Amino acid sequence: MKNTLLILLSIILLSCSKTPTKNTKENFDFDWKFYAGDIENVEKSNFDDSKWRTVNLPHDWSIEGNFSKNNPSFSRGGWLPTGKVAYRKTFTVPSTDKNKRIVIYFDGAYRNSEVYINGKLLGKRPFGYIAFYYDMTEHINFGKENVITVKLDNSKQPGSRWYTGTGIYRHVHLITTNKLYIPVWGNYIVANKIKNSKAEINVETTVKNDFDTNENIDISVSIFNEAGKLITSKKESKAISKNESIKHKSILTVENPTLWDINNPYQYSIRTEIIQNNKIVYTETTKTGIRTLTFNHTEGFKLNGKTVKLKGVCLHHDGGPLGAAVHKRTIERQLEKLREMGCNSVRTAHNPFSEEFLNICDEMGFLVMNEAFDEWERPKQPATTQNGKKQKITVHKYAHLFKKWAAKDLEDFILRDRNHPSVIMWSIGNEIDQMRDETGIAIGKRLVDIVHKFDYRPATNGVHGYWDMKRPNQEAAATSDIYGYNYIKQDRMDWEREQFPNVMAVITEHESAQSFYPRSTYLYGKQKEQWWNKLNYKYDDAYKWVEKRDIRGEAGMEAWRLVKESPFLMGMFIWTGWDYIGETIPFGWPARSSSFAPIDLAGFPKDGYYFYQSQWSNKPMVHIFPHWNLEGMEGKKVSVYSYTNGDEVELFQDGKSLGKQKNNTEKVEYQTWNVVYKPGELKAISYKNGKIIAEKMVKTAGKPSKIKIETRRTKMNANGQDLIYVECTILDKNGNEVPTANNLLKFNVEGAAIISGVANGDNMGLEPFKAKQRTAFNGKCLAIIQSTQKAGNIKLSITSKGLESTTINFKSN
Ligand code: GAL
Repeated sequence: MKNTLLILLSIILLSCSKTPTKNTKENFDFDWKFYAGDIENVEKSNFDDSKWRTVNLPHDWSIEGNFSKNNPSFSRGGWLPTGKVAYRKTFTVPSTDKNKRIVIYFDGAYRNSEVYINGKLLGKRPFGYIAFYYDMTEHINFGKENVITVKLDNSKQPGSRWYTGTGIYRHVHLITTNKLYIPVWGNYIVANKIKNSKAEINVETTVKNDFDTNENIDISVSIFNEAGKLITSKKESKAISKNESIKHKSILTVENPTLWDINNPYQYSIRTEIIQNNKIVYTETTKTGIRTLTFNHTEGFKLNGKTVKLKGVCLHHDGGPLGAAVHKRTIERQLEKLREMGCNSVRTAHNPFSEEFLNICDEMGFLVMNEAFDEWERPKQPATTQNGKKQKITVHKYAHLFKKWAAKDLEDFILRDRNHPSVIMWSIGNEIDQMRDETGIAIGKRLVDIVHKFDYRPATNGVHGYWDMKRPNQEAAATSDIYGYNYIKQDRMDWEREQFPNVMAVITEHESAQSFYPRSTYLYGKQKEQWWNKLNYKYDDAYKWVEKRDIRGEAGMEAWRLVKESPFLMGMFIWTGWDYIGETIPFGWPARSSSFAPIDLAGFPKDGYYFYQSQWSNKPMVHIFPHWNLEGMEGKKVSVYSYTNGDEVELFQDGKSLGKQKNNTEKVEYQTWNVVYKPGELKAISYKNGKIIAEKMVKTAGKPSKIKIETRRTKMNANGQDLIYVECTILDKNGNEVPTANNLLKFNVEGAAIISGVANGDNMGLEPFKAKQRTAFNGKCLAIIQSTQKAGNIKLSITSKGLESTTINFKSN
């Protein structure tokens, strides 16, 4: 976590008068012992864990399990196992570190963590999404072995409205510092003031003296550009009493700064040093982006003075087949695909995300609505589908913790994340029931006060407009700086503007322009009946719910129309950017993941993806659907649709034009033709100003014959955590994609890697994610290759009965 913790400082810099200096932030992810189950005395130093299996973090135990209708996590948790688990790690602290301070840092552990060092309880942290740390110095055996035990309890189920994972699913660090130091999250950088081409950078640093003597120190703050060139620096002296903590403020100026922007996410590095007797005893480097954020009730949101519509998605924290385990590459790939869709912002629905996530948003230029809570004091009873019928079940989530923990969790969340340039606003809640009565006033105010105490960015709350359009209590609503509207429609929005013309507004959440049927699933006549029959809940609530949302997801289009045509709206966040595990509505068993998003759980785009591309991106494109393997539809009329950002589309069937249709790029539009189906080809050509800008073809494919492999990279880091996503598409002998193929693919890896997961995007696929084989779903399938800690060549072979086998080579170094 580049922003708020120590950047890896493994070099011993210089020695100070008292002790040699050492500031390190070590990766503490490897070689933990793991046990799933309830077992006593695991925290004891002498507990025998030799029979436990060894795991590396980030680790999610739930994702290793099988889907079962008997798992109490229910459809909300994706039917995966949950329970109590324990981790132990034995490590040695050298005796040369005797005068050092030793801290253990967890970026998140799900949930109800209890952490022990050498049998002593360091603390408990129930919220599974929050980062936390403990100073272990007084309990450390220097020069000897030590053991950390982490007990987690995720047994109370259903425990969430979505899949959470169970385990130490984010990174862990061991931090060793001198006794004069900046505590975790002790550096706060504000870089949002620019005047006359000069940026004022405010650096507020907490310094702590754990020595028993008063000390005189210098605090030096330096700013470097991306090339590592020193731009400016400032040094000031301070006296710091024994065991005291002081706050130091430095103001520096960067002339003609390169601004952090969506398209050029330029970051400066701020180096803070503590100097004692002319020796540097502590160094910390934090990245920052210089940019201005403006929020306005008529003009929406501006970044660096220019209006930017938030073309956003809500995301849950899971990484599909890898579950909750945080891998940098998983997040990068998600954001790359979202960026290619034209998306520029993310709402962290509905809880703190990993620090990697925000680092990558900083690096890629994404804007983040950083959200803390989904529940306040009152538990939610979300709708769930069982045997096709809608019913409500209570989940044991955060409500019982709120009174005791909310202030601390919110404070720590802001302290960890406030240096990220990507964070543009905070959200204190999502669809909070208490916002509907006066109990929401005091709580809303308390939470927003915490936000304002620790940061300059505004607070929102996704509460307006949802649930039969019942408004929140107005006084409660007014506690947020920006009104967050979930699922609001044009007529209600008009009413809101009439009543409250001066409020700042954003659509915190809305439907996506995507049907509920899984990717590439087009059902007509008998086929549809058969599909629903398989589920055994054919004509029940689920069916109606699914059918209400048509093939194009009209309501999602309307939502975007509202945002596009309302300058006062800062933007919107669709539900969701990617499918996620759990919350399988409107389906019940055997669905185990959601299907709201334009990208499926394996990362394959659905048709809705291209709708957003046509609206959100300038890269010339055209998309047509459905695919053209519609067996049984011969001679019947089929509606064919296209999305483009050109100004007209011409559709050809087997070379014959079926006519051009206009696309008004100012409006939210799609094109449609009624086409009599016969095997062959359909081609869409998009024109802008009369010139061809893009074309796309769907062609009736023959029998599955071979496998096409696509990857975004062929090299990875030999760090035991890096990944390569291998996307497989089944082709016929002429190289056409077979959109109905469901062949079983087998993956075999040789060399310096393992297969860490497989998926295919089928929200009802019950094959385990941790496997070496997978049936393709509608022509596609995914394997994820993970590096080991050894560098070397990697060969992945993919075989399937009746198909040509194929291999691909990678490198890990
Ligand atoms: C919203 C809620 C989301 C998700 C979604 C499903 O109302 O905020 O978390 O549950 O519904 O449609």
